[in-house]
Amino acid sequence: MNKIVDFINVNRDRYIEEMKRYLAIPSISALPEHKGDVRTCAEWTADEMRRIGLQNVRLEETPGHPVVYGEWLGAPNAPTILFYGHYDVQPVDPVSLWTSPPFEATIRDGEIYARGSADDKGQVFMHFKAVEAHLKQHGSLPVNMKFVIEGEEEVGSAHLDDFIRAHKELLKADVVVISDSPMFDRGIPSICYGLRGLTYFQIDLRGSKSDLHSGSFGGAVANPAMVLAQVLAQMKDRSGRVKIDGFYDDVLPLTEAERDEFKKLPFNEKKYRQELGAPKLFGEAGYSTLERVWGRPTFEVNGLLSGFTGDGAKTVLPAVAMAKVSMRLVPNQDPRIIGDLFEAYLKKVTPKTVDLSITRMHGGKPWMTSFDNQFVQAAGRAIEQGFGQRPVFNREGGSIPVVSTFQEELGLPCVLFGIGLPDENAHAPDEKLDLGNFHNGVIASAYLYQEIGALTL
Ligand code: BES
Ligand code: MN
Ligand code: MN
Repeated sequence: MNKIVDFINVNRDRYIEEMKRYLAIPSISALPEHKGDVRTCAEWTADEMRRIGLQNVRLEETPGHPVVYGEWLGAPNAPTILFYGHYDVQPVDPVSLWTSPPFEATIRDGEIYARGSADDKGQVFMHFKAVEAHLKQHGSLPVNMKFVIEGEEEVGSAHLDDFIRAHKELLKADVVVISDSPMFDRGIPSICYGLRGLTYFQIDLRGSKSDLHSGSFGGAVANPAMVLAQVLAQMKDRSGRVKIDGFYDDVLPLTEAERDEFKKLPFNEKKYRQELGAPKLFGEAGYSTLERVWGRPTFEVNGLLSGFTGDGAKTVLPAVAMAKVSMRLVPNQDPRIIGDLFEAYLKKVTPKTVDLSITRMHGGKPWMTSFDNQFVQAAGRAIEQGFGQRPVFNREGGSIPVVSTFQEELGLPCVLFGIGLPDENAHAPDEKLDLGNFHNGVIASAYLYQEIGALTL
């Protein structure tokens, strides 16, 4: 491994220059006007995979954005890693809040700032460089590898499940590796063993066929903005508990053992609150912050729109009100069942004074695994080599819908080997990736292939 680590150290600056080109492509999957950029990014990903020496690299078309596939299968007696990541990114608005332009990667204080730096192009690129180091120095990898890099993760991986079901033979492997999450904290690398699931909705209320003069009609008809506020206020009680009937029926309670483990983690609630700029933390009564985010479900309003929001005043009674809402789910909640419960409850609490229309958007299942398996142990050793420190084990509040699909359709365990940071600003202005963590992550990834390659299954 020494030759490989030397290569990684020597090439450190080149990696940054290459990564900047990757981050320059505005691969925003949610926006139709960026469809061409998303494809350009898929092609860049494929070209890079060819450059580093992967084989049979190709774009696999889907009804949406393409999946990039590539492989190296020259280790017949060794295990096979299926690496998953995504080359698509979130929208960048409000652009005015970015210190430097989101698609002109800029380095400040040892961090590279750009949309996609942490989530997830930078972390995918880290693995490309680890593969490259092995192939350039030894002409081979210590493990077989298959790469699936998708372009629709940020819009719910709508076509990925079908792709996986249609390519079960192609994707046969022993373990899935993903780097698409933050580590526990700066200086505290971690392996993530649980993700929340998600179910997402748009709610539209209509109170009249057009906006009305609020003097002439105010008081005579229901105001949909007001009704929406009342409806949303009924989703949670004052103790932070979700009021949707049946919402908690399938929730796997946190065990005392797990709660004890969470308590041992170096989590500073005051620092957390201050960094968020929140006047006071709030969440479900009876649970700590880590428990609330990692192990408890929640209902959230993601956006609201109604009426006059410009400068000045306008005496108007809005015709419509709209909300985007979502629920983060934990094992064993099923997004479809929770979605049905939510729809039923929403219909129950919405008065007849407005027309209600419900649009179900994307979703994904929660995931949790035990971490006493040899893949996780191998990843732990790799992190120790790359970061000089053993990882802690954590869960995360975010969602990666495909993880449970890999488990259910291909029967594969998954190792979440993320090197982002909690303050990486994913999905927000000034997204960034720490370059020290990136560098250590390339080394750790190179060791990970070595460690998994040496396992006897
Ligand atoms: N990389 C994140 C998932 C993530 C976030 C894992 C935080 C761990 C901690 C991923 O790109 C993401 O943003 N997922 C979406 C999924 C949704 C669009 C279905 C999410 O969590 O909102
Ligand atoms: Mn991601
Ligand atoms: Mn994301």
